Amino acid sequence: MLRAMAKTNLGPATTAIHAGIEPNPVTGAIVDPISQCSVYAQPSPGEFKYDYGRSMNPNFYPLEKALAALEGAEHAAVVSSGVAAMTAIITLCKAGDKILLPKDLYGGTYRLYVQLFSQFGLKFIQIDMRDLDGVEKRLSQGDIKMLYAESPTNPLLQIYDLEKLASLAKAAGAVSVCDNTFATPMCQRPLQLGFDLVLHSASKYLGGHSDIVGGAIMTNDKDMHTQVTFARKSIGLHHDPLSMFLLRRGLKTLPLRMERHQSNAMKFAQHLEKHPAVEQVIYPGLESHPQHDIAKRQMSGFSGMVSVIFKTDLDTTKKIVSSFEVITLAESLGAVESLVQIPASMSNQKIPEEVRAENGLPDGLVRFSVGIEDIDDLIADVDQAIAACVP
Ligand SMILES: Cc1ncc(COP(=O)(O)O)c(C=O)c1O
Repeated sequence: MLRAMAKTNLGPATTAIHAGIEPNPVTGAIVDPISQCSVYAQPSPGEFKYDYGRSMNPNFYPLEKALAALEGAEHAAVVSSGVAAMTAIITLCKAGDKILLPKDLYGGTYRLYVQLFSQFGLKFIQIDMRDLDGVEKRLSQGDIKMLYAESPTNPLLQIYDLEKLASLAKAAGAVSVCDNTFATPMCQRPLQLGFDLVLHSASKYLGGHSDIVGGAIMTNDKDMHTQVTFARKSIGLHHDPLSMFLLRRGLKTLPLRMERHQSNAMKFAQHLEKHPAVEQVIYPGLESHPQHDIAKRQMSGFSGMVSVIFKTDLDTTKKIVSSFEVITLAESLGAVESLVQIPASMSNQKIPEEVRAENGLPDGLVRFSVGIEDIDDLIADVDQAIAACVP
């Protein structure tokens, strides 16, 4: 172990750089090599450190140590994507179990759980998790196996009172899960707020460079960790060595990147809030955000996602998002480059129109992932796109 990591109470930047990394015993290299190998020799049958790439790989461990340390968790499991993390987690449930989901959530979660896993007898119930009385009432029926939250939500950036949700779930005997992709452990640590499991799409902020797809699951519960790693091996949800290498590299700058994402997002949101062509800006850091007080209490930063509704019809909104010169029109989020998308037409388009309407997702909502470019260039870009499209 590096002498630095033997110390306790290291800051997040030191942790992000050093956790899990030891100089190579043969070469002294301070960066782990990519273990591009699927099978390992055994000195005698059944005696091994590593056996086969689907169950383990030398690149797993340094990465998992870093992910666990950043999230303040005892265990982390790295998997091939955010939806692979959701797949591993849902194996804690069995046919007939009921799972509470928020009304606003990532479209791929809806597709995986409601549209796919319902086929196997799991029952998903969407509920507005801002309404704690409603959640408590539903949990009090005593038949909920899991409460699955996202906060901030994708794409409405709703904030849920995580400490309260975790304690309600615990009192009802339900497993609590939080998708922490939007906040990252730099802004929010749901395990410390009482959640049992945290998951991430590491394809976003954790990786940070739009060059990998990955996922992670963190927990302090050894049995749950054992179950998700069993699912990883059994279903084939393992990460590939090159992506693990890139993810470990990306993590080193996570704290630094998040500082810039947040300061850019705040300036971007404040600018758009004053723009005459803008109807509404949704950013948890703004005082106008309906759950700003909860965000201030449970988050140490507000991350880099900003949602906006323009005072224009849908066609003009589509023209605006197609007219940027620095910001790229694309799905995904959380990388160094700024991205923009219209969730109802893109990432959340798989949610049926009537369900989107019932859950309050407007067709014209625009979601920005504010990158780490120079903020003046981002503001100039949004201004020129609006000027070009709005008469
Ligand atoms: C909040 C959230 N969770 C999970 C995922 C799924 O992650 P992945 O694309 O890595 O499977 C996404 C993808 O956009 C997301 O936005």
